[in-house]
Amino acid sequence: MWIISGFAILLASGFGGVEATQQSQDIEVEAPEVTPAPEITIMSTMKAAAFSPGGAENLYTSDVAIPEPGDYEVRIRVLASAINRADTLQRKGLYNPPPDASPILGLEAAGIVDKIGPGCPDSVLVGQKVMALLAGGGNAEYVTCRYEQIMPIPKGLSMIQAAAIPEVWLTAFQLLYFVGKLRKEDTVLIHAGGSGVGTAAVQLVTQAGATAIVTAGSQKKIDFAKSLGAKHGFNYKEGSFKDKVLQATDGKGVDLILDCVFGSMYDDDAQLIKLDGRWVVYGFLGGSQKEANFNMLLRKRVQLLFSNLRFRSVEYKKQLVQEFSNLSTPLFESGAFKPIVDTVLPLSEISQAHKLMESNTNMGKIVLKVSDETSAGKDEL
Ligand SMILES: NC(=O)c1ccc[n+]([C@@H]2O[C@H](COP(=O)([O-])OP(=O)(O)OC[C@H]3O[C@@H](n4cnc5c(N)ncnc54)[C@H](OP(=O)(O)O)[C@@H]3O)[C@@H](O)[C@H]2O)c1
Repeated sequence: MWIISGFAILLASGFGGVEATQQSQDIEVEAPEVTPAPEITIMSTMKAAAFSPGGAENLYTSDVAIPEPGDYEVRIRVLASAINRADTLQRKGLYNPPPDASPILGLEAAGIVDKIGPGCPDSVLVGQKVMALLAGGGNAEYVTCRYEQIMPIPKGLSMIQAAAIPEVWLTAFQLLYFVGKLRKEDTVLIHAGGSGVGTAAVQLVTQAGATAIVTAGSQKKIDFAKSLGAKHGFNYKEGSFKDKVLQATDGKGVDLILDCVFGSMYDDDAQLIKLDGRWVVYGFLGGSQKEANFNMLLRKRVQLLFSNLRFRSVEYKKQLVQEFSNLSTPLFESGAFKPIVDTVLPLSEISQAHKLMESNTNMGKIVLKVSDETSAGKDEL
């Protein structure tokens, strides 16, 4: 496909309705097979996820204006995206995106760079296949983001697999290395071991030569985490896991906890963390409030750390993306790291995707297939 920059009158349909506007816009021209006059497509709007605050049934797709890349930004033609818990919270009206982020759902995408804004380095090219960490906007046919937040797709991975990587792998990498200061000799307790973040964390911990122990709500998820490298797994729905973890560690406990549950597991965690342990909280699936006696944490000099990714600075994300890419690209390419895709649904079925995530049955990612176009690389999906 050829892309010709031009000046076109277009209809921009935003959330606030349809308005006539005039602005610089790309015109896409189908590459001719012989020499007939090219067919010209003027693109002005795209399909994107939209919702009114509430349940998953309030999700739908809408026609909105295609975003233009600003300074240091690229525009990606999205072939696949994915959903995250942050999207379900945002849909419920409980989690606002950062002020400068797109209000459209979607924290990650895989696709093809189709336009480059001012200030991007020469190494960023139209036509590059990339996966991107986003502060929003990924559940749509086009998205813009800072060039520092795109990564080349490891060779051999499909767009569907690539869309399953950015948010949960970068979160797990950040929590383990940047926040939790993972060491080879560590025993790491990972809650929600069958989740998107959990399945990535198990692989990262195992690759580092450290020991992963998981909790999960079913034997199926525990077995899956073990297939990815976890040494032990315990079903938290069968009662306290404290004694089981202590037994599995010869009474020593764990050095590091990756905790997206908090409240309901606090008492067990406080007892099984070691002296000088690091306890990284990054979600509140089991409640954000806890009445507790913190004496034990003080005596054990526990570092209780809280972290998020979406609200971090571009500089921080740049460093995270670079360090993660350096470590993970060869490992994805060799098959040592596996993006875990549970289910693939078309963007038009985003409501079903949210329902699935909220049923807590997925193991790994729920991916949205955004494009079916052969010209966009159907074979790669
Ligand atoms: N801070 C950050 O930067 C950041 C970034 C990404 C994600 N997160 C958070 O990380 C968590 C995992 O995200 P994800 O995308 O990996 O989720 P996911 O794939 O949807 O998996 C979440 C799993 O957590 C388990 N769970 C749900 N409620 C629970 C509870 N009350 N107690 C114990 N386990 C529970 C369920 O599995 P079981 O069958 O095992 O119960 C569920 O399938 C979410 O809380 C998300 O908000 C935070």
